[in-house]
Amino acid sequence: MVGNITLTMIKPTAVKKGFIGPILAKIAEGGFKIVAMKFTRLSLEQAQKFYEVHKERPFYGELTEFMSSGPIVAAVLEKDNAVQAYREYIGATDPAKAAEGTIRALYGTNLGENAVHGSDSDENAHIESYFFFSELERF
Ligand code: RTP
Ligand code: MG
Repeated sequence: MVGNITLTMIKPTAVKKGFIGPILAKIAEGGFKIVAMKFTRLSLEQAQKFYEVHKERPFYGELTEFMSSGPIVAAVLEKDNAVQAYREYIGATDPAKAAEGTIRALYGTNLGENAVHGSDSDENAHIESYFFFSELERF
């Protein structure tokens, strides 16, 4: 059985460039329902915890510094088969390789600053959504 939620973050560069509105509009256009959302900033320690699965990867330091460098928008999105549907909708990790019309192709800057995050499994969507939101913050 596949889950129906995914966790997204609008990353610091996209926030700085004024893309919160356009990205949220695009998310709605894709049929994803926002069931939780906040505008916040991660400390370096919180970013390290969020990306703990990537601890051994060479880009972990760069990634966690970037993700704590400015405010982000975090949201839980609901749709059938949300994890896979949203990953297809945002496009490839590298915006230069992302399909035309995808969120990363439209609003990404480069591989690190690729506009948005999307959970990579139902299990991680669950873990990541509880990282940001309590039951009282979900609708
Ligand atoms: P995300 O987790 O942000 O949705 O992205 P993803 O699944 O497409 O990519 P993932 O492999 O999980 O990598 C997490 C984020 O790390 C940055 N990255 N930098 N410098 C590099 O080689 C490199 N590779 C990945 C990207 O910002 C990616 O979104
Ligand atoms: Mg990932």
